[in-house]
Amino acid sequence: MHITFCCADTRPEPWLEGLRTALPGATVSTWSPGAPQADHAVVWSPPQQFLDEQPGLKGLFNIGAGVDALLKLKLPPGTKVVRLDDAGMSVQMAEYVCHAVIRHFREFDGYEADMAEGRWSFRKPRLRAEFPVGVMGLGVLGERVARALRQFEFPVHGWSRSPKTIEGVQCHAGAGGFDAFLGACRVLVNLLPLTPDTQNILNRRTLSCLQPGGYLINVARGAHLVDEDLLTLIDSGHLAGAALDVFRVEPLPSDHAFWTHPKITVTPHTSARTLREESIAQIAGKIRSIERGESIAGVVDRERGY
Ligand code: NAP
Ligand code: GLV
Repeated sequence: MHITFCCADTRPEPWLEGLRTALPGATVSTWSPGAPQADHAVVWSPPQQFLDEQPGLKGLFNIGAGVDALLKLKLPPGTKVVRLDDAGMSVQMAEYVCHAVIRHFREFDGYEADMAEGRWSFRKPRLRAEFPVGVMGLGVLGERVARALRQFEFPVHGWSRSPKTIEGVQCHAGAGGFDAFLGACRVLVNLLPLTPDTQNILNRRTLSCLQPGGYLINVARGAHLVDEDLLTLIDSGHLAGAALDVFRVEPLPSDHAFWTHPKITVTPHTSARTLREESIAQIAGKIRSIERGESIAGVVDRERGY
């Protein structure tokens, strides 16, 4: 069995070594133009030439959860496209989102500013009931985040394409349930995949539906958000601010208004990182299953886009 590795911005050696250990007997190598046909590929943002030269792949394993960049390419028709299925990401996402919600709710940003000025100043406790949090996308990451927020006793709403039942979470579904979901939330967390249906979904209209003093946490993709609309709604006072981990252009250009806006927190696409050991174990397990003719979880529905 031959596994080829083609991942942009990733040091190949530890991955090759890990895959060789996890799949003894397999030939594992980095792809270069003209390389022979492999059985399976481990990829992140591969060039089109790679896919054109590997039409007979059985599995194309993306080393991330989001497959939006991969689905923009022309893919071999018979190949299974497989996303990372948690692999240590959901706990990181729960940490990031709970931190951002609590930082905003408890005004820790304000206390940090007070400390810088040597000021001992209490703020009036805020009511948790007045900070309902909505999670857009109740998949592998969104469901974990919704459950984690419940641990802190925030009222939690969720929105997905198909109806869900999650204990303690008020679930809404489909286009018909979207506005009622938004109107029920003060803090909005985006964990949708980027698809033609969800591009620009965080815009002036939808963000205006949030309760006054709304706060946005975007941890999915930059192209979900219309940047100018967020800035307008923060500057008009309808929104209190935002925590942003993902951007239309990454790295975020140095002259972008988000860098210096006092009500916006920027992190460099780091809310849930790919963890190498967990990812290799998951991918190797799925390759073994495919080779045995078994079905696997995490196969992307190309029509749906995630
Ligand atoms: P997932 O398991 O595929 O879940 C996607 C969820 O979104 C599902 O609940 C799905 O509904 C819902 N959804 C999709 N299209 C929808 C639509 N048009 N309307 C309403 N709901 C819709 O994905 P995941 O593993 O949770 O990951 C989500 C995204 O997080 C990834 O695609 C990626 O972009 C992003 N991500 C970011 C980072 C980071 O570090 N910032 C790290 C990892 C992932 P159904 O359940 O009904 O299908
Ligand atoms: C990261 O953004 C991922 O999709 O895994």
